[in-house]
Amino acid sequence: MELNILRRMCTRYFQVVKSHGHFSIQVNLQQRRNPLLGIPVRCLSTSNVCHEQTGRTGKTNRRFQLPRQVEIFLFVFSVVGFGYSYYYIQKKIREKQLELVKQSAVEEQPVLIGGDWELVNQDGKLVSNKDFVGKWCIVYFGFTHCPDICPDEIEKIIEVTDILERTPGMPKMIPMFVTVDPDRDSPEIVKQYLEEFSPKMVGLTGTWDQLKVILREFKVYFSKGPVDEDGDYIVDHSIITFLMDPEGRYAAHFPRSKTNIDIATAIEKKVKLYKPPSSRH
Ligand code: NI
Repeated sequence: MELNILRRMCTRYFQVVKSHGHFSIQVNLQQRRNPLLGIPVRCLSTSNVCHEQTGRTGKTNRRFQLPRQVEIFLFVFSVVGFGYSYYYIQKKIREKQLELVKQSAVEEQPVLIGGDWELVNQDGKLVSNKDFVGKWCIVYFGFTHCPDICPDEIEKIIEVTDILERTPGMPKMIPMFVTVDPDRDSPEIVKQYLEEFSPKMVGLTGTWDQLKVILREFKVYFSKGPVDEDGDYIVDHSIITFLMDPEGRYAAHFPRSKTNIDIATAIEKKVKLYKPPSSRH
Protein backbone atom coordinates (compact mmCIF):
# COMPACT_ATOMS: atom_id res chain seq x y z
CA MET A 1 0.00 0.00 0.00
CA GLU A 2 2.77 2.38 1.03
CA LEU A 3 4.75 1.55 -2.09
CA ASN A 4 1.79 2.19 -4.32
CA ILE A 5 1.29 5.64 -2.77
CA LEU A 6 4.98 6.37 -3.24
CA ARG A 7 4.90 5.25 -6.85
CA ARG A 8 1.89 7.46 -7.51
CA MET A 9 3.64 10.40 -5.81
CA CYS A 10 6.75 9.88 -7.92
CA THR A 11 4.76 9.62 -11.13
CA ARG A 12 2.91 12.82 -10.26
CA TYR A 13 6.17 14.52 -9.35
CA PHE A 14 7.75 13.72 -12.68
CA GLN A 15 4.61 14.75 -14.53
CA VAL A 16 4.93 18.16 -12.86
CA VAL A 17 8.61 18.37 -13.69
CA LYS A 18 7.85 17.31 -17.26
CA SER A 19 5.13 19.92 -17.79
CA HIS A 20 7.00 22.81 -16.17
CA GLY A 21 10.56 21.94 -16.35
CA HIS A 22 11.79 21.39 -19.90
CA PHE A 23 14.48 23.75 -18.81
CA SER A 24 15.98 21.00 -16.73
CA ILE A 25 16.91 18.94 -19.74
CA GLN A 26 16.81 21.16 -22.75
CA VAL A 27 19.08 23.94 -21.70
CA ASN A 28 21.10 24.77 -24.76
CA LEU A 29 22.55 27.71 -26.44
CA GLN A 30 21.16 29.00 -29.67
CA GLN A 31 21.99 31.73 -31.98
CA ARG A 32 19.01 34.00 -32.59
CA ARG A 33 18.74 37.13 -34.51
CA ASN A 34 17.51 40.23 -32.74
CA PRO A 35 14.79 41.56 -35.06
CA LEU A 36 15.25 45.10 -33.86
CA LEU A 37 18.98 45.32 -34.01
CA GLY A 38 19.45 42.81 -36.80
CA ILE A 39 22.39 41.31 -35.01
CA PRO A 40 22.68 37.80 -33.75
CA VAL A 41 22.27 37.41 -29.99
CA ARG A 42 23.35 34.52 -27.90
CA CYS A 43 20.68 33.38 -25.61
CA LEU A 44 19.64 30.56 -23.41
CA SER A 45 16.71 28.75 -24.89
CA THR A 46 14.22 26.42 -23.39
CA SER A 47 11.24 24.85 -25.03
CA ASN A 48 8.73 26.82 -23.02
CA VAL A 49 10.59 30.08 -23.25
CA CYS A 50 10.79 31.97 -26.45
CA HIS A 51 12.83 35.00 -25.62
CA GLU A 52 11.81 37.39 -28.20
CA GLN A 53 8.76 37.42 -30.39
CA THR A 54 7.44 40.07 -32.62
CA GLY A 55 3.72 40.79 -32.25
CA ARG A 56 1.28 42.36 -34.78
CA THR A 57 2.32 45.83 -33.70
CA GLY A 58 5.84 45.03 -34.48
CA LYS A 59 6.78 45.49 -30.85
CA THR A 60 8.95 43.01 -29.17
CA ASN A 61 7.26 40.95 -26.43
CA ARG A 62 9.59 39.58 -23.80
CA ARG A 63 8.06 36.49 -22.21
CA PHE A 64 8.80 35.06 -18.80
CA GLN A 65 12.22 33.49 -18.48
CA LEU A 66 13.60 31.71 -15.46
CA PRO A 67 17.03 32.80 -14.30
CA ARG A 68 19.71 30.29 -15.10
CA GLN A 69 20.53 29.67 -11.43
CA VAL A 70 16.90 28.72 -10.79
CA GLU A 71 16.96 26.34 -13.75
CA ILE A 72 20.12 24.71 -12.49
CA PHE A 73 18.66 24.50 -9.02
CA LEU A 74 15.49 22.86 -10.32
CA PHE A 75 17.52 20.48 -12.44
CA VAL A 76 19.64 19.43 -9.45
CA PHE A 77 16.50 19.25 -7.32
CA SER A 78 14.84 16.92 -9.86
CA VAL A 79 17.87 14.66 -10.05
CA VAL A 80 18.21 14.48 -6.27
CA GLY A 81 14.46 13.99 -5.87
CA PHE A 82 14.41 11.21 -8.41
CA GLY A 83 17.45 9.57 -6.84
CA TYR A 84 15.99 9.71 -3.37
CA SER A 85 12.57 8.42 -4.49
CA TYR A 86 14.22 5.55 -6.35
CA TYR A 87 16.37 4.71 -3.30
CA TYR A 88 13.36 4.89 -0.98
CA ILE A 89 11.22 2.63 -3.19
CA GLN A 90 14.05 0.10 -3.55
CA LYS A 91 14.59 0.15 0.21
CA LYS A 92 10.89 -0.50 0.83
CA ILE A 93 10.87 -3.36 -1.71
CA ARG A 94 13.92 -4.93 -0.05
CA GLU A 95 12.31 -4.62 3.38
CA LYS A 96 9.10 -6.22 2.11
CA GLN A 97 11.05 -9.09 0.52
CA LEU A 98 13.03 -9.64 3.72
CA GLU A 99 9.82 -9.71 5.71
CA LEU A 100 8.34 -12.34 3.36
CA VAL A 101 11.49 -14.46 3.59
CA LYS A 102 11.41 -14.26 7.40
CA GLN A 103 7.70 -15.11 7.43
CA SER A 104 8.15 -18.18 5.24
CA ALA A 105 11.09 -19.28 7.40
CA VAL A 106 8.87 -19.11 10.48
CA GLU A 107 6.11 -21.04 8.71
CA GLU A 108 8.54 -23.75 7.66
CA GLN A 109 9.94 -24.18 11.14
CA PRO A 110 8.67 -27.42 12.62
CA VAL A 111 6.46 -27.01 15.66
CA LEU A 112 8.00 -28.84 18.58
CA ILE A 113 4.86 -30.64 19.69
CA GLY A 114 4.43 -34.39 19.50
CA GLY A 115 6.90 -37.20 19.13
CA ASP A 116 7.35 -40.87 19.93
CA TRP A 117 5.41 -42.32 22.83
CA GLU A 118 4.19 -45.64 24.19
CA LEU A 119 1.04 -45.98 26.29
CA VAL A 120 -1.65 -48.48 27.24
CA ASN A 121 -5.09 -48.23 25.65
CA GLN A 122 -8.45 -48.87 27.35
CA ASP A 123 -8.25 -52.57 26.38
CA GLY A 124 -4.95 -52.92 28.22
CA LYS A 125 -2.97 -53.17 24.99
CA LEU A 126 0.40 -51.44 24.57
CA VAL A 127 0.18 -48.92 21.74
CA SER A 128 2.52 -46.26 20.37
CA ASN A 129 2.39 -43.24 18.08
CA LYS A 130 3.36 -45.56 15.21
CA ASP A 131 -0.03 -47.32 15.47
CA PHE A 132 -1.68 -44.08 14.41
CA VAL A 133 0.48 -43.28 11.39
CA GLY A 134 -1.76 -42.59 8.40
CA LYS A 135 -4.60 -41.29 10.57
CA TRP A 136 -5.65 -37.83 11.66
CA CYS A 137 -5.87 -37.69 15.45
CA ILE A 138 -7.61 -35.23 17.75
CA VAL A 139 -5.77 -35.47 21.05
CA TYR A 140 -7.09 -34.27 24.40
CA PHE A 141 -5.46 -34.50 27.83
CA GLY A 142 -7.58 -34.76 30.97
CA PHE A 143 -8.70 -37.10 33.75
CA THR A 144 -11.82 -39.16 34.38
CA HIS A 145 -12.57 -37.57 37.76
CA CYS A 146 -12.73 -34.10 36.23
CA PRO A 147 -16.06 -32.63 37.37
CA ASP A 148 -17.05 -30.51 34.38
CA ILE A 149 -14.45 -29.26 31.92
CA CYS A 150 -13.16 -32.60 30.66
CA PRO A 151 -16.64 -34.06 30.02
CA ASP A 152 -17.59 -30.92 28.07
CA GLU A 153 -14.42 -30.99 26.00
CA ILE A 154 -14.68 -34.73 25.26
CA GLU A 155 -18.29 -34.24 24.18
CA LYS A 156 -17.20 -31.42 21.91
CA ILE A 157 -14.47 -33.54 20.33
CA ILE A 158 -16.97 -36.34 19.64
CA GLU A 159 -19.27 -33.77 18.00
CA VAL A 160 -16.36 -32.55 15.88
CA THR A 161 -15.64 -36.08 14.64
CA ASP A 162 -19.36 -36.56 13.90
CA ILE A 163 -19.48 -33.30 11.89
CA LEU A 164 -16.38 -34.30 9.93
CA GLU A 165 -17.75 -37.78 9.27
CA ARG A 166 -20.75 -36.18 7.62
CA THR A 167 -18.53 -33.85 5.57
CA PRO A 168 -17.84 -35.29 2.12
CA GLY A 169 -14.20 -36.01 1.33
CA MET A 170 -13.03 -35.86 4.94
CA PRO A 171 -10.93 -38.72 6.27
CA LYS A 172 -11.87 -40.53 9.47
CA MET A 173 -10.67 -38.78 12.62
CA ILE A 174 -9.42 -40.63 15.69
CA PRO A 175 -10.46 -38.84 18.87
CA MET A 176 -7.99 -39.57 21.64
CA PHE A 177 -8.13 -39.09 25.40
CA VAL A 178 -4.87 -39.18 27.34
CA THR A 179 -5.01 -39.15 31.11
CA VAL A 180 -2.96 -36.85 33.32
CA ASP A 181 -3.97 -38.95 36.35
CA PRO A 182 -2.63 -42.48 35.84
CA ASP A 183 -2.82 -43.23 39.59
CA ARG A 184 -6.60 -43.48 39.32
CA ASP A 185 -7.17 -43.84 35.58
CA SER A 186 -6.47 -47.51 34.94
CA PRO A 187 -7.35 -48.93 31.48
CA GLU A 188 -10.60 -50.31 32.94
CA ILE A 189 -11.63 -46.96 34.45
CA VAL A 190 -10.78 -45.15 31.22
CA LYS A 191 -12.79 -47.68 29.19
CA GLN A 192 -15.80 -47.36 31.45
CA TYR A 193 -15.56 -43.56 31.36
CA LEU A 194 -15.26 -43.22 27.58
CA GLU A 195 -18.14 -45.61 26.92
CA GLU A 196 -20.39 -42.89 28.30
CA PHE A 197 -19.33 -40.65 25.43
CA SER A 198 -18.54 -42.67 22.34
CA PRO A 199 -16.98 -45.98 21.38
CA LYS A 200 -14.95 -44.05 18.77
CA MET A 201 -12.68 -42.51 21.37
CA VAL A 202 -9.30 -44.07 22.08
CA GLY A 203 -8.36 -43.87 25.78
CA LEU A 204 -4.71 -43.86 26.77
CA THR A 205 -3.05 -44.33 30.12
CA GLY A 206 0.11 -45.98 31.42
CA THR A 207 2.75 -45.69 34.07
CA TRP A 208 4.00 -42.30 35.18
CA ASP A 209 7.21 -42.88 33.22
CA GLN A 210 5.24 -43.59 30.04
CA LEU A 211 2.92 -40.64 30.55
CA LYS A 212 5.66 -38.17 31.39
CA VAL A 213 7.07 -38.69 27.88
CA ILE A 214 3.88 -37.72 26.04
CA LEU A 215 3.00 -34.94 28.50
CA ARG A 216 6.44 -33.42 27.91
CA GLU A 217 6.17 -33.84 24.14
CA PHE A 218 2.82 -32.05 24.04
CA LYS A 219 3.93 -29.49 26.63
CA VAL A 220 0.90 -30.26 28.78
CA TYR A 221 0.71 -28.53 32.12
CA PHE A 222 -0.69 -30.59 34.99
CA SER A 223 -0.64 -30.22 38.76
CA LYS A 224 -2.22 -32.48 41.35
CA GLY A 225 -4.26 -30.62 43.95
CA PRO A 226 -4.63 -31.42 47.68
CA VAL A 227 -6.29 -34.73 48.63
CA ASP A 228 -9.53 -34.34 50.63
CA GLU A 229 -10.93 -36.58 53.41
CA ASP A 230 -12.44 -38.97 50.86
CA GLY A 231 -9.12 -39.33 49.09
CA ASP A 232 -10.44 -37.28 46.17
CA TYR A 233 -8.40 -34.62 44.39
CA ILE A 234 -8.44 -32.40 41.34
CA VAL A 235 -5.70 -32.33 38.73
CA ASP A 236 -5.26 -28.87 37.33
CA HIS A 237 -4.31 -29.20 33.67
CA SER A 238 -4.09 -27.30 30.41
CA ILE A 239 -7.24 -27.52 28.32
CA ILE A 240 -6.01 -27.72 24.76
CA THR A 241 -7.08 -30.03 21.95
CA PHE A 242 -4.40 -30.94 19.44
CA LEU A 243 -4.79 -31.97 15.83
CA MET A 244 -2.05 -34.32 14.62
CA ASP A 245 -1.58 -35.10 10.94
CA PRO A 246 -1.23 -38.62 9.45
CA GLU A 247 2.53 -38.46 10.02
CA GLY A 248 2.02 -37.81 13.73
CA ARG A 249 3.06 -34.21 13.36
CA TYR A 250 1.40 -31.25 15.01
CA ALA A 251 -1.16 -29.63 12.69
CA ALA A 252 -3.17 -27.29 14.95
CA HIS A 253 -4.40 -26.74 18.48
CA PHE A 254 -7.69 -25.43 19.82
CA PRO A 255 -8.35 -23.77 23.15
CA ARG A 256 -11.48 -24.33 25.18
CA SER A 257 -13.15 -21.22 23.72
CA LYS A 258 -13.47 -22.82 20.26
CA THR A 259 -16.83 -24.35 19.41
CA ASN A 260 -17.36 -27.70 17.71
CA ILE A 261 -18.10 -25.85 14.43
CA ASP A 262 -14.93 -23.71 14.77
CA ILE A 263 -12.80 -26.80 15.28
CA ALA A 264 -14.45 -28.85 12.53
CA THR A 265 -14.05 -25.97 10.06
CA ALA A 266 -10.39 -25.48 10.99
CA ILE A 267 -9.67 -29.21 10.71
CA GLU A 268 -11.36 -29.36 7.31
CA LYS A 269 -9.07 -26.58 6.08
CA LYS A 270 -5.98 -28.30 7.49
CA VAL A 271 -6.93 -31.61 5.88
CA LYS A 272 -7.46 -29.94 2.50
CA LEU A 273 -4.08 -28.19 2.71
CA TYR A 274 -2.24 -31.32 3.77
CA LYS A 275 0.08 -32.89 1.23
CA PRO A 276 1.16 -36.48 1.82
CA PRO A 277 4.93 -37.13 1.71
CA SER A 278 4.66 -38.73 -1.75
CA SER A 279 3.42 -35.45 -3.27
CA ARG A 280 6.00 -33.27 -1.52
CA HIS A 281 9.32 -32.26 -3.07
NI1 NI B 1 -10.38 -31.66 33.30
